[in-house]
Amino acid sequence: KSYPSNMSKKARLEKLNQKMSACSACTLRSGCSRVVFGEGDPEAEIMFIGEAPGKKEDETGHPFVGAAGKFLNEMLSEIKLRREDVYIANVCKCRPPENRDPSPEEIASCWPWLLEQIRIIQPRLIVTLGRHSMERFLEGQKISQMHGTLVIKTIPEIGQQNFYTLYHPAAALYNGGMRQTLLEDFKKIPKVLEKIKKES
Ligand code: URA
Repeated sequence: KSYPSNMSKKARLEKLNQKMSACSACTLRSGCSRVVFGEGDPEAEIMFIGEAPGKKEDETGHPFVGAAGKFLNEMLSEIKLRREDVYIANVCKCRPPENRDPSPEEIASCWPWLLEQIRIIQPRLIVTLGRHSMERFLEGQKISQMHGTLVIKTIPEIGQQNFYTLYHPAAALYNGGMRQTLLEDFKKIPKVLEKIKKES
C-alpha cells in the first residue's frame, strides 16, 4: 500500500483504522463489540504487541486496559515511560469469545493489518507480549528461552527489525516467578533500545 509521501504517520494510521473497522476477514468481528485498533504515539520508538482484546478492551476500544494493562502501565512507569510514549497493539484486533486463544486462521486473517501498522510506525524495537505474539515473528522458538533477549530478524513484509520477547503480563500477574522475570526483563528495555541506536 502506498500513501502520499507528505502524509503523516498519524494520518496513515487513521486511514488504516477506518479500513480496519470495516473488516470481516474472519468470524471474530461478528461476535465482538468493536475492533481494537491499537493506540499510542505514531512516532513511537517502541511498539508493544499483545495477543487479542479481552472484555475490557472490547468494551472500551482501547488495548491493554484491564488487569494486564494496569500491570503494563506500572512497568512502563518503572522505566519512565507512559502509554502515550509507546505504541500498543495486538496480533488480533477483535476479541475472541470467552477470551479463548485466537485460532491460527484468525491470526492469519489479522496479520496483514498488523504488518501495515508496523510498516507505518516503523518502530526501532518491537516488544512481543506473550507466546502468541512472539510466535508470529520468531517462529518455532520457546518463550522460556527467548524472553529478555534481543533478536534481529528480517521479516519479508517489514524488513530488518529488532524484537524483544517478554512474558505476557496477564500470565505473569499471578505467577510469582514469572512476574519477577517479566519485571527484570522489562527494566532492560531502555538499555536494549540504547544498544540498537548505538549499533545502527
Ligand atoms: N491481553 C492482550 O493480549 N491484549 C490486550 O489488549 C489485553 C489483554
